[in-house]
Amino acid sequence: MSKPLINIKDITVRFGEKTVLDTINLDIFPNEITVILGESGCGKTTLLKTITGLIKPASGSIHIFGEPFDGADESKHDRMLRRMGVLFQNGALLNSVSVRDNVAIPLEQHSRMDPDLIARNVAVKLKWVGLSEAEYLLPSELSGGMRKRAALARAIILDPEILFCDEPSAGLDPVTSASLDQLILTIKEQFNMTILVVSHELASIHRIADKVIYLDKRKILYNGPLAAVRTCGIETVENFFRTGSF
Ligand SMILES: Nc1ncnc2c1ncn2[C@@H]1O[C@H](COP(=O)(O)OP(=O)(O)OP(=O)(O)O)[C@@H](O)[C@H]1O
Ligand SMILES: [Mg+2]
Repeated sequence: MSKPLINIKDITVRFGEKTVLDTINLDIFPNEITVILGESGCGKTTLLKTITGLIKPASGSIHIFGEPFDGADESKHDRMLRRMGVLFQNGALLNSVSVRDNVAIPLEQHSRMDPDLIARNVAVKLKWVGLSEAEYLLPSELSGGMRKRAALARAIILDPEILFCDEPSAGLDPVTSASLDQLILTIKEQFNMTILVVSHELASIHRIADKVIYLDKRKILYNGPLAAVRTCGIETVENFFRTGSF
């Protein structure tokens, strides 16, 4: 078995008095798509933000690329973060600048490329996500699916080794959602990427997941292959995979 790319050991996250994640242990393996699911408010976004260093856990440790992530000094932390791309739950595009300028932001902040090269890189990624025509539009001029694609282009602009996507297809119609899933699968294959996706849409989970992590009541209820989830013997989990609802 290959070594985990992300290793999470005994992570506990609290907001004030409230414990959201309680001594979570988790390994994420390379070149796989892992889907995190669970009821609204169970801590899926919190888990992603903890792994990407945006939320500091009360206790526990995180290793990424075989190295300690939480204890790393600032420059090392930044270097590790450059190897990860994040598509936030709301897309988080800047509304005042064009699609092109949004996608260019990480390159402008983290590389020394000249403007010409940045423009070429942005054009390549926009082509990848099927948004070449929308380069000069503002986010407000895009459809919901196009906004997600633009946010995805920005998340992969630095060619990350790990991609985090928080509910990429939430609020999209089934056809748009399926085409976004296809794009995620293509990115995994072509770039050999390791991808963590938060999703609670059964059709989407079946299309993309290699592994499934089911969060419930601050703990991981199921962590294993998609292929085994329907017969895992855990009633709450089997019930979700039967009905598609929590
Ligand atoms: N910055 C914060 N400060 C205080 N409480 C927070 C913060 N972020 C999240 N929480 C709380 O932590 C819990 C988990 O939130 P989180 O956003 O991780 O849920 P989720 O599983 O992503 O839900 P959804 O499916 O609705 O996106 C919620 O009760 C939420 O109110
Ligand atoms: Mg969330």
